[in-house]
Order: sequence, then structure tokens, then C-alpha cells
Amino acid sequence: MHDVFPELTEDVIGRMKGAKPRLREVMTLLIRHLHAFVREAALTQDEWRVAIDFLTRTGQMCSESRQEFILLSDILGVSMLVDAINNEGGEGITDSTVLGPFYTGPQRELANGDSILLREEDGEPLVLRGRVAKEQGVPIAGAKVEVWQTATNQLYDVQDAEQPRGHLRATFRTDADGHYEFKTVMPVSYPIPSDGPAGQLLESLGRHPFRPAHVHFMISAPGYRTLITHLFVAGDKYLDSDAVFGVKPSLIVKPKLDRGVQTITFDFGLAASIVESHGAG
Ligand code: BEZ
Ligand code: FE
Repeated sequence: MHDVFPELTEDVIGRMKGAKPRLREVMTLLIRHLHAFVREAALTQDEWRVAIDFLTRTGQMCSESRQEFILLSDILGVSMLVDAINNEGGEGITDSTVLGPFYTGPQRELANGDSILLREEDGEPLVLRGRVAKEQGVPIAGAKVEVWQTATNQLYDVQDAEQPRGHLRATFRTDADGHYEFKTVMPVSYPIPSDGPAGQLLESLGRHPFRPAHVHFMISAPGYRTLITHLFVAGDKYLDSDAVFGVKPSLIVKPKLDRGVQTITFDFGLAASIVESHGAG
């Protein structure tokens, strides 16, 4: 099938001459790979129709509170690939991972040491604390630390009418020594939304929809690359098969008892942001 209708590919690509350079570059690659895929798979008319129907249903599933295309990107490993390309790691820089669809923008700012719960949970109390520093280890004061996680019923506040909005979400600022600290409950593993096309695809592929227990972090400070990451709890049975491929070994942490409370101590390292040069030459 490799040589079926090669002039079609060149014709499609040839008609993009009016496009801006980056769009033309990306679309040229997309068409070459897409056509190569269709040839190599020798796609049947029926398979093409199934794919169109699948994508149509994926779009129809999207709403203000549901982004099925992101879920699809997540379960196919595309989100983690884009993340890896754009967030190069290094010594002293904390690994990043997928944002996920449940970041809901800025939340109430709490004082270090406060609880992020807006109602009681039956989970085990957990303290999360540590420092935010530059890659060389120098603390960053005033860094914004945004956190979010599910309740112990495996749902985020936005998925559950019973939870107060903003439950298990908050924003903190690091103190002069770069410290952050908050109280929460032990996160639990949970299934990503699987009642739509992404879930159907997972099932057809013989895959489960679960993510290992984690707490999300988005950490930002002027002059530094915003870090989007999670901390995963050691021992979770889904660490090796996260539905969205988000686990990195450096992000797995084991809580320890401190004064009778399970405590995770984790220091984050931020990369300096790359300053774009706009000068001539
Ligand atoms: C999350 O961890 O919130 C998440 C990430 C990707 C897909 C679904 C959920
Ligand atoms: Fe999550």
C-alpha cells in the first residue's frame, strides 16, 4: 500500500503555500504522517466511518465541564509527549506531568498550614510540606503554589454536586524560606471519566481507566517556568499502569508519620524561564 496515490499527498501539501510558516510546517507533517498511516493501515471504508463517528461523538461529549479531546490525548500518551517536549528536566528541576482536565483556575488563597478541605472527609489526615527553590537550591519566596485533588469518593468537586465548590483546592504562597505547607486527606486512586468515547476506547483496548492516588500542583513565580506536576503516593496499585501515563519515578513519595500525622515532605525545583531574544541579529 506504500505507494498508493502519492501525488495526492503532494497535491494537498502543495496547496498550503499561503499559510503562515509554522502552520504550513505543522500541517505538512500532519498530512504526510496521516496519509502514511492511512496507506500503511490500508484503512477500509468501514474503519474510516467508525473513526469519523468516534471523533464526532468525542466532540459532542465536550462541554464547559468536560473536555473529551483532552482525555483522548491523555490516554493516547500525546499529552505526556507534548509535556516532555516543552518541559525539559535537569538537575534540581522537578519533573512535570500532565495537567488533566480538572484544573479550574485560581482558587482561594490560604495561609501556610491551613487545610484545603471545605467539608469533612473520612480519609486519613495528611500534611504536605516542603520548599520551592531554584534549580541551584536557593529558595523562592512568594511562589504561587496551587493544589487540587479528589475527595475520598474519587470525585473532584466539579464532578460532584454534593461537594462545595473549591473543596480540596487552594492557593498558597511560599514564605521567605520558600516553604509551603497544608493539611489535606490522603489522596485515593480514581477512574478518569469513562462514560464517553475515551472510556469506550480504553475498554476496547483492554485497558482500565484508573489513575494512581495523587495531589496536583501548579507552581509559578516570575522568572521561572511554571511547573505542572503531581505527587503520587508510593504503594498505589496503579503506579505502573496510570491510564494517562503521568507517573514519573521522581514524583512517587512515601508519607511518613510525624507527630502522629502522615506527612509528605517534598521540595520542588523550578527551572528559570527561557528569555526570548527579540533583538536584531
Ligand atoms: C487528573 O489527574 O485529574 C486527570 C488527568 C488526566 C485525565 C483525567 C484526569
Ligand atoms: Fe487528578
